[in-house]
Amino acid sequence: AHQWRGVIREYSDRLPMLEGAPVVTLHEGGTPLIHAEKLSERVGAEVHLKYEGLNPTGSFKDRGMTTAISVAAGKGARAVICASTGNTSASAAAYATKAGMTCGVLVPDGKIAMGKLSQAIAHGATLLQVDGNFDDCLTLARKLAEAYPVELVNSVNPARIEGQKTAAFEVVDALGDAPDVHCLPVGNAGNITAYWRGYREYLASPVTDAPAGPATRLPAMWGFQAAGAAPIVLGHPVDQPETIATAIRIGNPASWQQAVAARDESGGRIDAVTDEQILDAHRYLSSEEGVFVEPGSAASVAGLLASHAAGLVPPGARIVCTVTGHGLKDPQWALRTADGSDVVPKRVSVDAFSAAQALGLEG
Ligand code: F0G
Repeated sequence: AHQWRGVIREYSDRLPMLEGAPVVTLHEGGTPLIHAEKLSERVGAEVHLKYEGLNPTGSFKDRGMTTAISVAAGKGARAVICASTGNTSASAAAYATKAGMTCGVLVPDGKIAMGKLSQAIAHGATLLQVDGNFDDCLTLARKLAEAYPVELVNSVNPARIEGQKTAAFEVVDALGDAPDVHCLPVGNAGNITAYWRGYREYLASPVTDAPAGPATRLPAMWGFQAAGAAPIVLGHPVDQPETIATAIRIGNPASWQQAVAARDESGGRIDAVTDEQILDAHRYLSSEEGVFVEPGSAASVAGLLASHAAGLVPPGARIVCTVTGHGLKDPQWALRTADGSDVVPKRVSVDAFSAAQALGLEG
């Protein structure tokens, strides 16, 4: 019997930064790549969903946290800190606990999804709500890490990007080659940076014994920001980012330049999607594909649908959309119908006939 060993052990030959470090893992990675038949038909392409919600804490952050916390442990760190819109804090708290470290998290004023907050608290992190937005939190976290004995585990920590690049390896391993297009939500822009690095590294140093053969090409990277938090699209920072997709409510991404490089080097695009398009895609994924994601995650699919409407999807192209976080992180959005009213369960008595009627099985 063999179980997936986590990204550090599975890809140790491709993670030189981790050499000699202790391995702190919750067996992250190894997430499914799901063929989305209905979405494929709708956009006239072959679409797959990289379902990152199935990581141990429910988001892709775990790939970068196993590496960041392992490197920190190798340096003898006792404490870590991060700024977060929620998922990074949940992941940092879990991996810090696993490593026996303390964890401080700085979250912005305003909405953080309840599932994410509960995780950080459950894992014993010290939670500070900062009078400011995510970008202010990151500035503060950087200052603390410079002045005090605490490791910064945001994606400005190079070990984070190293871990997250493994998702691109898994896509190539599953498809036998890179896709034509890779769609991602963009917030702080670490993940688009990481995927692009992963694809390039796999091409430069192919897996020659892979069953399907080595990668022969690179995808076009398509990144999507929320319209109210779209600094890269606008070309300038956004002081007061706003979107219901709280995960990507970021006005001045730390990896801005790297995201632009990924876009330009890959012949890709970075565009904006509205909250309405995000919620439509969110609903479509759960109701048509059986895949429940948090709203921020649905930005990749919202972007694909908008691109299709604009005639930008090459017919028959092979496309991967990363859906970055689990729907249970922020479940409130599922309890609302498309017209904005609350979903209320039908009430029935303990009676087969009335239950069957309510289910539409009778008459
Ligand atoms: N999707 C989800 C679910 C996220 O939590 C994030 C980022 C992103 C997409 C964007 O990824 O920042 O690499 O461009 N969440 C961070 C956090 C900022 O604090 O959890 P990115």
